[in-house]
Amino acid sequence: MKKPFIFINSAMTVDGKISTLERRQVRISSQKDMDMVDKLRAGSDAVLVGMNTLLTDDPKLTVKSGKLREERLEKGLSENPMKVAVGRIDSVNLDSEFLNYGNAEKIFFASRDSDTLKIDELGDMADVYVSVDDEIDPCFIAKTLHGLGVRRLMIEGGAETNYRFLKAGLVDEIYVTVAPRIFGGRDAPTLVDGAGFMEGQALKLKLLSMNRKGDELLLKYRVSKR
Ligand SMILES: NC(=O)c1ccc[n+]([C@@H]2O[C@H](COP(=O)([O-])OP(=O)(O)OC[C@H]3O[C@@H](n4cnc5c(N)ncnc54)[C@H](OP(=O)(O)O)[C@@H]3O)[C@@H](O)[C@H]2O)c1
Repeated sequence: MKKPFIFINSAMTVDGKISTLERRQVRISSQKDMDMVDKLRAGSDAVLVGMNTLLTDDPKLTVKSGKLREERLEKGLSENPMKVAVGRIDSVNLDSEFLNYGNAEKIFFASRDSDTLKIDELGDMADVYVSVDDEIDPCFIAKTLHGLGVRRLMIEGGAETNYRFLKAGLVDEIYVTVAPRIFGGRDAPTLVDGAGFMEGQALKLKLLSMNRKGDELLLKYRVSKR
């Protein structure tokens, strides 16, 4: 199957949490790390998030640096990578930053049972692909994005979405910034949630690089093929 190179990028606490028990956007890592995230975005053709992240965090998902946006334009690329969201679209706010902030192509992979009126409304602002199955097959997402010219896909969470792409065997690399904080909380999302893997199915990773920035650690892993 033809698919883009897919990587997950996330910041987490030492106890593996990507948010607090309040499950909304919190600043976890340093400004230096945020600048690195901006570079990763600028170097990607598309940036993808799950529906909970879209609804709770209302992320802009654009390249923040004017210099990086200009460099993209000089290369003949769009100013920002394509924005992609996955899940039931019924609660998506038409005024959301995802839909309105910055100059970027927008795509939804919507659940089969999504509200038809909402599909029409969003269809005026974005491309909407409605799933034929109960769960939106991550392979279908990867294949479709490849067909649209996406060669490098950055997944920016959350925990459930990370799990679904990892479970489907689609993720090539994982970049995680470990920040010197502890959130705790059994209901706080971790880097990977979902149903989880049994011991024999646990994914194996190879450490590609390790960079220390102050008290933060940037770890890059390749996901071993099963
Ligand atoms: N620290 C970080 O770097 C970082 C980055 C991003 C997010 N976060 C945090 O992560 C938390 C959200 O994570 P989360 O695990 O709750 O949610 P999530 O992964 O953002 O979204 C999960 C939802 O997306 C939809 N979805 C994703 N893939 C799907 C598929 N293949 N088929 C069908 N539906 C799919 C489903 O929505 P439906 O059930 O509606 O269909 C699913 O419940 C927030 O607290 C956010 O702040 C942290």
